Amino acid sequence: MTIAPLRILHVASEVAPFSKSGGLADVCSSLPPALAEHGHDVVVISPFYGSLREFVSSGYLHTTSITLNNREFPIAFTEHKHLTQRVRYLFIQCEELYGRPGYYYDPATNRDYEDNDARFAMLACAALTWCQLNNWVPQVVHGHDWQSGSLPLFMRSPRFGGLFDNSRFVFTIHNMAFQGRFHGGARVWFDHSDEYAELGGPAEFHGMLNLLKLAIEMADAINTVSPTYAHELRTIEHMGFGLGPLLHKRHSHFFGILNGLDTTVWNPETDEELEVRYTATTLALRNRNKRALCEKCGLQYDQAMPVVSMVTRVSEQKGFSVLLPIVGDLISSPAQLIILGNGDPAYESQLKSLERAYPQRIKLITEYNEPLSHLIYGGTDMFLMPSLFEPCGLSQMMALRYGAPPIARETGGLADTISDYSHNPVSGTGFLFREYSSHALSHALKRAFFMFRDTARWRKIQRHGMKEDFSWRRSARVYEEMYRRALAAPRVFE
Ligand code: ADP
Ligand code: GLC
Repeated sequence: MTIAPLRILHVASEVAPFSKSGGLADVCSSLPPALAEHGHDVVVISPFYGSLREFVSSGYLHTTSITLNNREFPIAFTEHKHLTQRVRYLFIQCEELYGRPGYYYDPATNRDYEDNDARFAMLACAALTWCQLNNWVPQVVHGHDWQSGSLPLFMRSPRFGGLFDNSRFVFTIHNMAFQGRFHGGARVWFDHSDEYAELGGPAEFHGMLNLLKLAIEMADAINTVSPTYAHELRTIEHMGFGLGPLLHKRHSHFFGILNGLDTTVWNPETDEELEVRYTATTLALRNRNKRALCEKCGLQYDQAMPVVSMVTRVSEQKGFSVLLPIVGDLISSPAQLIILGNGDPAYESQLKSLERAYPQRIKLITEYNEPLSHLIYGGTDMFLMPSLFEPCGLSQMMALRYGAPPIARETGGLADTISDYSHNPVSGTGFLFREYSSHALSHALKRAFFMFRDTARWRKIQRHGMKEDFSWRRSARVYEEMYRRALAAPRVFE
């Protein structure tokens, strides 16, 4: 079904390639253009962090000042060009709040910035201020994750004089583990918070201010990023990190919509970061990428020995507690292991000592490196994602598209995007395991290593994955349908 063009505002704390720590950034740079393709007028607004200075802006659009908590902050909005000209990407410059190296925490200390309440109150308030200054009133205000969770408070603020009274607030949960919890005193940064953060109110959770809860309570439509994660959130208590019952309560407004990929950026046929570009019919060329990857990582290239890789945040979510105990077994299979990622210092140090013990077999690169990530997807034999939970996961889709069959836990979006080869020899694309244990992971790895020895069969698995459609084509339509429903009904929260 087609719907009349809408004005849609996306508010997000990360947008690739400008700011990215994970898949949220990928989604916020690929869903908006997919919506614009369908004729909608789409604007994306995000903070201008210190690290964005390398991006040349296409000029100041507006300078203004915004008062929060009785303090006046000078603000500038700049526009940056991205791959597509059809979507406007706007950034909020506020040196005092965003002019630092990290997005959410200080990379020097690994501690959250203490003024994240003010920083993300500003994101919501400034995004709406831009609309006001430009007299551009969106029908849909679409927030992503807790950082934009205070939008419904500001949409109702007298400072905007009812401008957003006919707009609907749509909210996407990318990860339930991050909720934006603040002590009660933080409410001073948020308009209207006295009313909404009172005990028992939408913003209050266990005596704290919880921005994720606020957004879920007040949204006119809510979704998460895969059907299976939506189901898990509704049905498995611990998956909701305390907010499961609330999602249950809001089930008639809660949807699971699978993420897509920007298939122009993630395409092995055109990817400039690869040593050799290839397609499903020229897969033999791929070994040259494997060789280049091994060289870059200081590992010896051996066509017959599988290279298993991860490109990931190093965190509990990503399954390190089941992986670490079996790394020794994995490499003695024999195999090589490459991990690109950083995060939890305890996991990092365990990985570093494994790397020191087996330098010919393990390479750990504790940095964020976009070009290297492309070479890994295009050169590794297998891709590992033993996640404890995975709302969607984009990495496995990239791996599938680049012909690196994933070995992954059957949870969230991993269950929705990978089909197990042993169960589906006609179309299987990877290797899944269900139980969150080293034993189950080890068994899946063994199955993959066994299949890898049969080159003809392995090629089939690679090709099945490369044929899958991970574009936004289908999911962008489902988002439109969700917007349409939200607009057709009265606002949920007055
Ligand atoms: P999450 O959002 O939970 O981190 P996703 O699989 O949805 O997981 O998205 C991860 C995204 O971040 C992918 O685009 C992946 O390639 C990228 N990524 C993660 N870690 C790194 C890294 N160290 N260097 C480069 N890219 C990375
Ligand atoms: C979160 C999730 C990840 C998802 C991404 C984009 O970071 O952890 O599974 O793919 O958001 O929606």
